[in-house]
Amino acid sequence: MKPGLDLSSIVVLTGAGISAESGISTFRDAGGLWEGHRIEEVATVEAFERDPMLVWKFYSRRRINAARAAPNLAHEALVEFAAENPGVMSLITQNVDGLHQRADGREVLAPVCMHGSLHQSRCTHCGSTYFDDFSYFDDEGNYAPGQTNLCDLSQRSSPEYLHHYKLEYAKFLPLSPCCRRPLRPHIVWFGETPLHLPRIDTLLKKAKIFLSIGTSGVVYPAAGFIQVAKAMGARTVCINKEEIPQAADIDEFIQGSATLKVREFLSSLGSRNG
Ligand SMILES: NC(=O)c1ccc[n+]([C@@H]2O[C@H](COP(=O)([O-])OP(=O)(O)OC[C@H]3O[C@@H](n4cnc5c(N)ncnc54)[C@H](O)[C@@H]3O)[C@@H](O)[C@H]2O)c1
Ligand SMILES: [Zn+2]
Repeated sequence: MKPGLDLSSIVVLTGAGISAESGISTFRDAGGLWEGHRIEEVATVEAFERDPMLVWKFYSRRRINAARAAPNLAHEALVEFAAENPGVMSLITQNVDGLHQRADGREVLAPVCMHGSLHQSRCTHCGSTYFDDFSYFDDEGNYAPGQTNLCDLSQRSSPEYLHHYKLEYAKFLPLSPCCRRPLRPHIVWFGETPLHLPRIDTLLKKAKIFLSIGTSGVVYPAAGFIQVAKAMGARTVCINKEEIPQAADIDEFIQGSATLKVREFLSSLGSRNG
C-alpha cells in the first residue's frame, strides 16, 4: 500500500504483448519473420518501392488477422478504468491492430497511435489519410479485395472511407482518390518517425503514474518513454511477461500476462490511494 499515491494522471504505453492473448503474434513470437521474409523486408519504404505487392500482401494478411481477433480482458480493463475515472488516463499505443478502439465503444480512451493504424491507408504523394479496412489479397496471396470489420460504422460512413469498388488500381494495387498515386498502409515503418511525438511528450511530462504494458523495451523512441516519465517525476510501473532492459527506471515490475495483471493493478490503485 502506498498512501497518497497521485492518481491525477496515468499514462499508459502498450505494445504487442497486450494483444498477444487475443491471438495476434508479437514480433518475437513470429521470430521476426513473415513467410520467410524478414519483417524489415516488408515494413520499410524501400520494401514498398521495390515490391509494393509483397507489402500489400503482408498488410492484407495483418488486416485479416486483426479483424479475426477480439479485444481481451486487458484492453477492456483499461477502458473500464477510464470510464470510471474520467480525465485521468491517457493511452499511447505502439499497436496498429485497432483492438484498443474496438474495446472502447463509448470512446472514453482514444489511443494515441504512434505507429499508425492497420485500418487506414495514405496517399504516397500528398499524405492524405483514409479509412481503409480492405484486405486486397487473400490468405494465399491472390488478388481478392474483401472488407474486414476493422473500421467501425462511423468510419465506414465517413467521406474518407475508401470503397474498393470506387478505387482505381494499377497492377492490382490501389491508387489514391486524391492524386491517383499508390496508396500505402498508414503504418510507421522501420526508419520512419513515429506519429504524434509532441503530444506524447506533453503526456509524459504530466504523468504521475506511467504504466508500460506488453512492450519489449527495444524499439525506440517508445523504449525511452519510461526513462523520460521517471525523470519528470512519475512513478513507473511495468507489466510484462519477461523483464525488459529498462529495469533501472522501473519502480514496480509486475511479471505476468496482461489479461490477468492489468485489471489486478488497476483495481489495486483505489486501495493504495488512501
Ligand atoms: N498487435 C500489434 O499491433 C503488433 C503486433 C506485432 C508487432 N507490432 C509492432 O511491433 C513493434 C515491436 O515492439 P513491441 O514492444 O510492441 O513488441 P515486441 O514483440 O517486441 O514485444 C512484446 C513484449 O510483450 C511481452 N508479452 C508477450 N505476451 C504477453 C502477455 N500475454 N502479457 C504481457 N506481456 C506479454 C513479451 O515478453 C515482449 O516483451 C512495435 O513497433 C509495434 O508497432 C504491433
Ligand atoms: Zn494524394
